[in-house]
Amino acid sequence: MTLNVGVIGVGMIGREHINRLANTLVGARVVALADVDAKQAEAVAAGLPGAKVYPDGEALIASPDVQAVVVTSWGPTHAAYVLAAIRAMKPVFCEKPLATTAEACLSIVEAEIASGRHLVQVGFQRRYDKGYRALKKAIDDGAIGAPLMIHCAHRNPAVPEAYVSDMAIVDTFIHEIDALRWLIGDDYVSAQVLKPRNTKHTHARLDDPIIVLLATKNGVRIDGEVFVNCRYGYDIRCEVVGEEGVASLPEPESVVLRKEAKLSTTIMQDWKLRFIDSYDVELQDWIEAAKAGKVNGPNAWDGYFAAVTADACLEAMHHGGVAEIKTATRPKFYD
Ligand SMILES: NC(=O)c1ccc[n+]([C@@H]2O[C@H](COP(=O)([O-])OP(=O)(O)OC[C@H]3O[C@@H](n4cnc5c(N)ncnc54)[C@H](O)[C@@H]3O)[C@@H](O)[C@H]2O)c1
Repeated sequence: MTLNVGVIGVGMIGREHINRLANTLVGARVVALADVDAKQAEAVAAGLPGAKVYPDGEALIASPDVQAVVVTSWGPTHAAYVLAAIRAMKPVFCEKPLATTAEACLSIVEAEIASGRHLVQVGFQRRYDKGYRALKKAIDDGAIGAPLMIHCAHRNPAVPEAYVSDMAIVDTFIHEIDALRWLIGDDYVSAQVLKPRNTKHTHARLDDPIIVLLATKNGVRIDGEVFVNCRYGYDIRCEVVGEEGVASLPEPESVVLRKEAKLSTTIMQDWKLRFIDSYDVELQDWIEAAKAGKVNGPNAWDGYFAAVTADACLEAMHHGGVAEIKTATRPKFYD
């Protein structure tokens, strides 16, 4: 069976997901598009035989021609579309964030439970990255014993002027928030944010770098550096220190050069290329799971947990001190 997918939001990531659904992945086709920018939706539809443009996301979700929904619109619009998809009992893949407030995420969790079906997946693609999966397997296999500490870093070469301090948490570190919790199978209990001296390459509305400190229920301590004007490249680092050894995230594949008295490898510059394979694996898995009536990837509860953690990080960043991470009790539905 081919899954008929409707995509809401044909911006940067929307067009990338449409392209992979239409040309790279198997078992799905894009039959419907919607965007507040109707011209843009028409332009994308022109390259997709059989795809119809709907006047809005709600009409797309309600259409009998659409079996499953991908939400890649602007973040603040996600919650309403995800709730509409749940009401229509259609599987929905929602790019992060699931919603822009923890309360809205919780309302999605409650609606999904009330529907009695697992319908919602959130776009935290690192869980599908080859390197992160290998790291998780090493930890799960007991290669380093119980995890004690995680040291990690999320570095970008540069960001535009419009990128401000909160985005370091809600757009950047949010990927670590989800991936690290999944990596060690542990929940966070508190957050703190340290602000070292600013780089001269930042601007008045961006503290850069910052260090986020997280503590987990099992007492694991995490230090995560976010440095978005590091200049040298897009570099994702993660080292898990356990009782019996240390496991590190593998470097992305890159040819090692010996030339002009130097040994060198290239460091990526573009975040899109760093995780390009994982987006393919993620959406292929979603297609299969949606057909089987399951959710294998990050679910609505994970989206909610990430939102609560991000709120605590923001509170700590703005007010100093240690912010508690308090969530509702995890429903059995997500066991
Ligand atoms: N997982 C990742 O690594 C990753 C990467 C990039 C973006 N994202 C997420 O994907 C989402 C989209 O990001 P983007 O970079 O493509 O943004 P974008 O601004 O390029 O595209 C957003 C699109 O949504 C449309 N839109 C706005 N309001 C709408 C509405 N009410 N209904 C329908 N369409 C609407 C806009 O017209 C635009 O075409 C964001 O939530 C972002 O955080 C995730």
